[in-house]
Amino acid sequence: MQINISQILDYVKKEDVKRYEDSLKEYQKGLLDKTLAGHEFMGWLDLPERMQEDQLAAINDDVQRIAPEADVFVVIGIGGSYLGARAVIEALKHSFEALMPEKRPTVIYAGNNISEKYLSDLLELLDEKDYALTVISKSGTTTEPAIAFRILREHLEAKYGKKTARRRIIAITDKEKGALRQLTNQEGYSSYVVPDDVGGRYSVLTPVGLLPVAMAGVDVRQIIRGAGDMRNQLNNTHTLEDNPAFAYAAARNALYNKGKTTEVMAAFEPALHYFAEWWKQLFGESEGKDAKGIFPASVSFTTDLHSLGQYIQDGERNIIETVLHVENPRKSLNVPEDSANLDKLNYLSGKAIHEINHKAETGTIMAHVDGGVPVIQISIPEINEYHLGQLIFFYEYACALSGYLLGVNPFDQPGVEAYKNNMFALLGKPGFEEKTNEVYNRSSKQ
Ligand code: PA5
Repeated sequence: MQINISQILDYVKKEDVKRYEDSLKEYQKGLLDKTLAGHEFMGWLDLPERMQEDQLAAINDDVQRIAPEADVFVVIGIGGSYLGARAVIEALKHSFEALMPEKRPTVIYAGNNISEKYLSDLLELLDEKDYALTVISKSGTTTEPAIAFRILREHLEAKYGKKTARRRIIAITDKEKGALRQLTNQEGYSSYVVPDDVGGRYSVLTPVGLLPVAMAGVDVRQIIRGAGDMRNQLNNTHTLEDNPAFAYAAARNALYNKGKTTEVMAAFEPALHYFAEWWKQLFGESEGKDAKGIFPASVSFTTDLHSLGQYIQDGERNIIETVLHVENPRKSLNVPEDSANLDKLNYLSGKAIHEINHKAETGTIMAHVDGGVPVIQISIPEINEYHLGQLIFFYEYACALSGYLLGVNPFDQPGVEAYKNNMFALLGKPGFEEKTNEVYNRSSKQ
């Protein structure tokens, strides 16, 4: 993985970026010594080592036991409890896997919304399929996954009987706290622990991310190897030139101080769509607080060059673009020659599709830099387990450093409670009675 921040230098001076280096060194030390705000959630730093052979073996046993009996594997979770797994699975799977019967089990998702249509459609599908599920919730009390799990558990029990249904459920939650842990112990589900010192959005390298990813047939050891190599590099380098997380954190903070308040992650491979969703959650929840933070957004190019591309080129000049470049697509396809040439495309005959995509990318970066958008480039040789592992660890580390530079605690998310409190009061949840009248009066005026 490589980073290039040279194309931001029309917008910020080199010394404006470099001046962060000393602070970054201090924050790096504070991370490693676990002395900074949020130190109780820094266990993710050691995950590449902590994911021991016995845990990986247990994951493998669950996969061997469940995969042959399931057409579909449902991952129930929201936010950090599903986005990391989805990012990796979607990046690596065949683009049309859902329509390929030989690729089983297909991983699908639930508990990340409260949509009646979505859940009803899901039940209709599951009536026809053999399936198993994992329910993932660190707190064990989050409403969206709890509702989905209650519905699917009932469905699973009606379909297979209580005893067999139990064998088709894997819970991933706190070791002792929360309603899900209680239910898991009572029912005897196979289960994994989300470590106390790892927050939801930093948990992709625990069973939270690795179990669903393994169920999709992905080699989790390669992900961990990539993450471990990146960790060694990031822990042992202390300059903007050698440490990509320093460079990224410094570049985006320097640009933020020049009024660049939105960062758009742009990928020219649609398979990276959910990687960008994971990144948005990581940075959005980590940095967006105390009335500060860069708003993380994403686009899929070239698709969105025909929609949001207009805004990026010409709209409000508050945007940073970070282009995620993939060197080698791992597949090979050329534009065919056509003697009639009615479509006037023969100038492309024989060219690889990825070459054309790369030219579109270069042209886009040039146009955006010319149009007032500083561009950061992050490159990986190809989309595989190892490089995704590297990227995951890089972004986690950079996010922590960037949050400290911004002056926030990157490991809490106090803002997430506000909607929940109102919703609980409106739904009459026990314990929220005092708020109920107030929110009802307000909601009737809306
Ligand atoms: O990153 C986070 O901490 C959050 O996005 C959580 O992952 C999300 O709210 C789900 O929480 P839980 O796993 O407790 O259900």
